[in-house]
Amino acid sequence: MSTLVVVGAQWGDEGKGKVTDVLAASVDVVVRYQGGPNAGHTLVVKGEKYKLHQVPAGILHGKECVIGNGVVLDPKTFLEELEGLRKRGVPVDRIHLSHAAHVIFPYHQRLDELEEERRGSQRLGTTGRGIGPAYSDKVARMGIRVADLLRPETLKAKLSRNLEQLNHLLEHVYGVEGYRLEDLLELYTGYGEALRPFVTDTAQFLNKAIAQGARVLFEGAQGTMLDLDHGTYPYVTSSYPTAGGACLGSGVGPTRIDAAMGVAKAYTSRVGDGPFPTELKDEIGDYIREKGGEYGTTTGRPRRIGWLDTVVLRHSKLVSGLTSLALNHLDTLTGLHPVKIAVGYRIRGEVWESLPLHMEDLFEAEPIYEELEGWAEMPSALSSFEDLPPQAQRYVKRVEELSGLPVSMVSVGPGREATLVRFDPFAAAPATR
Ligand code: GDP
Ligand code: IMO
Ligand code: MG
Repeated sequence: MSTLVVVGAQWGDEGKGKVTDVLAASVDVVVRYQGGPNAGHTLVVKGEKYKLHQVPAGILHGKECVIGNGVVLDPKTFLEELEGLRKRGVPVDRIHLSHAAHVIFPYHQRLDELEEERRGSQRLGTTGRGIGPAYSDKVARMGIRVADLLRPETLKAKLSRNLEQLNHLLEHVYGVEGYRLEDLLELYTGYGEALRPFVTDTAQFLNKAIAQGARVLFEGAQGTMLDLDHGTYPYVTSSYPTAGGACLGSGVGPTRIDAAMGVAKAYTSRVGDGPFPTELKDEIGDYIREKGGEYGTTTGRPRRIGWLDTVVLRHSKLVSGLTSLALNHLDTLTGLHPVKIAVGYRIRGEVWESLPLHMEDLFEAEPIYEELEGWAEMPSALSSFEDLPPQAQRYVKRVEELSGLPVSMVSVGPGREATLVRFDPFAAAPATR
């Protein structure tokens, strides 16, 4: 088994970056296949914190890092991120950037803000990084790709065509100032030159590596419930975080994928608007937020908190064909008694064990909870599953039963030492096949 997709099994921020960093020690290549600077993946290595937005979390182990065609890249923040890493002594020369990744421009960010303002109370709570408008341009076949930045004449032709339409929209619909071609052309030609050494055909690179037996980890951003098709539409992001997105966003076919691991917290968090059935708007939610440091890596927003929802985990397993689960933040539930797990919903008297057909029904879904005994203490490092208090062991086992997924990794803190690999997630457990 040599390829594994790591998928957020909830609404993002499950600890995908941390899990990727832990597994990266034994892989050859780490690939980001979707999303952009809306992602914020935090790694804590020897007590030092690293926040990655566009660079794959394999970077700290010096592995080959691929940014695939499914990503939307913001060159400005990407180059700043590289500079930040270089300054901390992290080499960045093994980054491979797809020529076919789409590029975020300042007008995408501006449109993201303007569209959110226009939505008013129906806002999505986006990260404001221009993600939706950049993917909209891609789908509308007017996007500008990384390769275009390397050819000033191509860039000029595409940009001037786009600005004609865009400036009309900005000036006549939103009543704000438009953009000047010369300004953007100069700026983005400069970015093109800075990016040039990294740009390559990453589909070729990856397929060759896989054919030679490389271990490849696909690091998802966001999560299943934010997936454009499989999430709580329209309260989603504009890409495909689910496992199928790894194929689309990298040019590696489904016959080359061996396993998919969902990543979840022992509870649930969501940043941004939209339905959240198990949300806790009380002191238990506040306790978890403070203890778990639940503030957005990208925007600093306080995250909304709720109990673990196994309807969501089963959905995630289904749509990504997950083969195991990584369960993070068991330490954060320490001190709570009882701890609750949602096993289904009641919606207008009817019981649902999977997601309802109408997304808006989730706003009124009442979770059906199972209560488990809590635990009062937790070790700060794990060397075996038995190091967990017996109640936490039972919690993990119950999550396995309710989700139908074997837990391959558990963690009790943000560092590598607090994360236990119970079995190799690259090796799909037979029961889940
Ligand atoms: P990602 O977007 O999925 O990579 O997750 P984020 O990095 O945005 O958020 C996860 C946060 O939880 C980060 O601050 C991690 O350092 C932290 N974290 C990961 N696993 C654990 C854990 O087991 N316990 C605690 N207390 N923190 C964790
Ligand atoms: P990581 O990779 C959590 C959320 C936003 C908003 C919705 C749409 O760190 O898990 P967008 O800016 O993408 O158009 O916003 O998606 N969102 C995330 N939530 N973690 C993320 O990334 C997210 N990226 C986007 O809050 O609700
Ligand atoms: Mg995050």
